[in-house]
This record gives sequence, C-alpha cells and structure tokens, in this order.
Amino acid sequence: AGLHAAAVAKGKVYFGSATDNGELTDAAYLAQLSNKEDFGQITPGNAQKWDSIEPTQGTFSYTKGDVIADLAAKNDQKLRCHTLVWHSQLPSWVSSGTWTNETLIAAMKNHITNVVTHYKGKCYAWDVVNEALNEDGTYRTNIFYQTIGEAYLPIAFATAAAADPDVKLYYNDYNIESSGSKSTGAQRIIKLVQQYGAKIDGVGLQAHLIVGSTPSQSAQATNLAAFAALGVDIAYTELDIRMTLPSTAALLAQQATDYKNTVAACVANTKCIGVTIWDYTDKYSWVPSVFSGQGAALPWDENLAKKPAYEAILSALGGT
Ligand code: G3I
Repeated sequence: AGLHAAAVAKGKVYFGSATDNGELTDAAYLAQLSNKEDFGQITPGNAQKWDSIEPTQGTFSYTKGDVIADLAAKNDQKLRCHTLVWHSQLPSWVSSGTWTNETLIAAMKNHITNVVTHYKGKCYAWDVVNEALNEDGTYRTNIFYQTIGEAYLPIAFATAAAADPDVKLYYNDYNIESSGSKSTGAQRIIKLVQQYGAKIDGVGLQAHLIVGSTPSQSAQATNLAAFAALGVDIAYTELDIRMTLPSTAALLAQQATDYKNTVAACVANTKCIGVTIWDYTDKYSWVPSVFSGQGAALPWDENLAKKPAYEAILSALGGT
C-alpha cells in the first residue's frame, strides 16, 4: 500500500500532492502523480490563482485550472482548490488599482463568486484566504487589509459559502505549525470569521519546513490541539522540508525524521484530515528558485526515486 491508502486506513481523508500544468507533459511524472495508492488528492500549484484566472477585470480564464480539475476527476482524486484571496500572484489591476471600500469588496466578491461557482462540485476544499498574517501575528498590509480592514476575511468566507455551500472553506498560512504569535493570529482569524457568522471549516498549515529545525511531534501536537479546540478541521497543505545542498545521507536521515514527526502529529489528531506535499519530486520543487543553495525538499528525488522520507511518512501513517 502507498501513502494515500495508509492515510485512509488511519481514518484520514487523503494524502496528496500539489502539481502544475507544465509538468504534466512529463509521462513518468504524471504516472506517479496519478498513482492513487500514494495520492488521493491533488492541488494546483498556480493554475487557480487570481492572476491566472482573472488577469484583467471581469475576464475569467479557466483553461489551466480545468486541466488540473479534470485530471483529479479522471484519477478519482480529491481536488484542494488554491487560492481565492492572496496578496501574491495578484494582478496589478487589483494590487495597484484605485479602490474604495465599496469597489474593492465588489471586485473581491465578483472574483470569488465566479471562481467558486465555476468549480462548484469539483473541489473538496478552497483556500479562501492565503497568508493574511505577518510573522508577529498582526495583519499583513495588503490591498485588501488597507482598503477594507479585517472585515475582508469574513466577507471572503461568506461570499465563498454563498457560491458553494458544500465545499470546505479554509484559512491557509505558513509558519503556523507550532505555537507562537503567528499561530495565535491564525486562531484569531478563525474566531473572527466564526463571530461574524460566516462559515469556516478548516485551517491549512502550509508547512514549508527546514531539515533539522522542524518542530518536534509534541510541539506540533500542542499546536494542532489549539486549532482543534476551535472546532475546525486541520490539514497540512503544502508540506516540504528543505535542506542546504548538497544532500548527504545524514541530511536525508534527518529529513526522514522531520517528515515522520510532522505526519505523525497529523495522524494523532482526529481533526487533522490530511496531508499534501508541495509537489512530490525534487525535480519540480519551488524551493531552489526561491532559496538559493537549498532544495531536495520532497520525498522523491529528481529522478523520481523514493528517498528515505518516503518510508518514514509511510511508517508514520502505519503503512508498510
Ligand atoms: O507562468 C510563468 C511563465 O510564463 C514564465 O515563463 C516563467 C518565468 O519565470 O514564470 C512563470 O510563472 C512562475 C509560476 O510559478 C509558474 O511556474 C512564477 O515566476 C513563479 O514565481 C511562480 O512561483 C510559484 C509561487 O507560489 C509564487 O508565489 C510557485 O510555482 C508555487 O509553487 C508557489 O506556491 C506557494 C503557494 O501558492 C502559497 N504558499 C507558498 C508556496 C510556495 O511559494
């Protein structure tokens, strides 16, 4: 059995991977991505972002996102849809537009309503708002916060729920995998949306982690318990664990331990419903292009061979 099969046997909804349109012409890559023993869920890495779908106001382009959605349907994999409201990969007509409270709310609602309606019935979950927080837990000053204030968060969730009452709605962020100011900030956002009377189903912990400084299983367990106490589901949504290159046997062993601790923390919390890695092979990881000299962050190497992290994840999921 593979990662997804083992996750399901543990009562989880899925184990999955992100992917991206350009990689799908790689036949060997596509074959492993489509192997449902390992992956019961996929996430489009870029295809559903605002700049991809609505590059100019009111013109919606679903071609790339539909390729990933169709692939998920063909493979009988769940689709995590990513993402509706984010400061990055935001077209300049939004980020540099001249807005009032009223006009930006209208543009945001129009985007969310169109996109969620288009994918209605196809997504297991939407990352409704992505990365709204600074590291100290205060709100990031993006165009939405600057123009609308914190109300943009509950408005976004309420708009998504109105367009598709059945899809699960998540707040998603990084560096919220252990307790601290930013994790507390994410808990504040969940409570804000709940107090507004809007639906929020889950929190996504991106988990872009670092070999040797990944939070321990017990530190992650404490953090998961704080989110679970708010009544929301939890998912690890973008897990990868990077190292300073070159990769060595010792680093690969530490990486395996770090993956095991993270996946085991999810296994141990009944509100944690699944784990997604941010692509599965080092061949297509985003890490080296952003963190110079770092990489090798995923459980499959650049030749699509399994690394020690694979067996560690499988064993954390109770598989063999
Ligand atoms: O599509 C263009 C292509 O036309 C152009 O030729 C090429 C030249 O550089 O760029 C292509 O766009 C790139 C895009 O990925 C698609 O490959 C962008 O430059 C590049 O910045 C973009 O990076 C993405 C990144 O988000 C942007 O913030 C990564 O692929 C994607 O994995 C990454 O994902 C994010 C999550 O959405 C949110 N959490 C963090 C995570 C990692 O940064």
